Amino acid sequence: MRQRQSDYIFWAKTQSRARFNLATSGVGPFPLRELPVTLGQLEINGDSTYGYAPLQQAIAKKCGVDPDCVVAADGTSMANHLAMAALIDPGDEVLVEQPTYEVLTSTLLYLGAAVKHFARTEESGYALDPAQVRRVVTRKTRLIVLCNLHNPSSVLASETALREIGGIARSVGARVLVDEVYLDLVYTNTPKTSYHLGPEFVVTNSLTKAYGLSGLRCGWILAEPDLARAMWRLDDLFASIPAHPAELLSVVALENLDSIRERGRKVVEADRVLLRAFLDSQNAVSAPRTEFGSTAIVRLENGNVEDFLTRLHADYETSAVPGRFFGLPNHFRIGMGVDTKMFGEGLQRIAQALKA
Ligand SMILES: Cc1ncc(COP(=O)(O)O)c(C=O)c1O
Repeated sequence: MRQRQSDYIFWAKTQSRARFNLATSGVGPFPLRELPVTLGQLEINGDSTYGYAPLQQAIAKKCGVDPDCVVAADGTSMANHLAMAALIDPGDEVLVEQPTYEVLTSTLLYLGAAVKHFARTEESGYALDPAQVRRVVTRKTRLIVLCNLHNPSSVLASETALREIGGIARSVGARVLVDEVYLDLVYTNTPKTSYHLGPEFVVTNSLTKAYGLSGLRCGWILAEPDLARAMWRLDDLFASIPAHPAELLSVVALENLDSIRERGRKVVEADRVLLRAFLDSQNAVSAPRTEFGSTAIVRLENGNVEDFLTRLHADYETSAVPGRFFGLPNHFRIGMGVDTKMFGEGLQRIAQALKA
């Protein structure tokens, strides 16, 4: 039986909410009223076939690529699904980082891939290490999948490591899929997309995590033009035509990205200060200090994480993501960037629950 569901998404949709919700992954929602747009600029139907030209150009400009390399998709979720479906056949060997965002593995299993993992070890601070890829790659490997920033740790991959992994992929005729949905949460010297590192790189991204614009579902794939064309043709079997009002709003959002990003930045940076102070004051948990990103993965030194999170939710009205979804059963993930008052109170409640 093929995989036909995601346990993590089901949990996130049905159980993650709480008064003090630290089970988030991106910045808080950006409100429509703050986008410089009027109703007169919107329309229900438009001229969108293989992309809506103004949106193709706006995404291409943001990424510093030619519009021919851009395949628009419904969020990074659909971008990942479409890219993987275009890149692999059932039975193909695919290497995925571990720990990882569960949906990547579930989608690959749904597509019939033979999934193998390469480690990002806790001891190394979850670093992306080409040596770990070399340990598991074979002549049969068709695709290598990773996230930059890494989910759940928010670790930034070095360009050297990415280039080396590109070289490993090239040597066996594979591609590298890099999910960059968190990359714009590196606020200073934001790295360029790894699409520029070579033809074996395929990149996915969207305006969700760093911009609070999840509802627009403005996502995309960057791929070589021939591959991009093949992805558009495959998309005719999936989504065919996107919602045009969302395309129009996405063009406006892309024209105003810097100011939209600044809004979330203030909250993420304030939350990170609180998280560091919390971690410095705790012996019952440990975690690498994050420099970037909106999530942190925390180890519970003693006790059962599931029991702890159940108690945290029931007695302290606070939620965090169980690490089991990332293959880390002794950990939980904390999200920053929504509301600093809520975040600070949530951390205090975690501290109380750890003491109780
Ligand atoms: C690594 C990763 N990729 C993709 C997504 C989904 O992104 P989107 O909301 O743009 O579909 C998430 C959401 O948590 C994620 O963590």
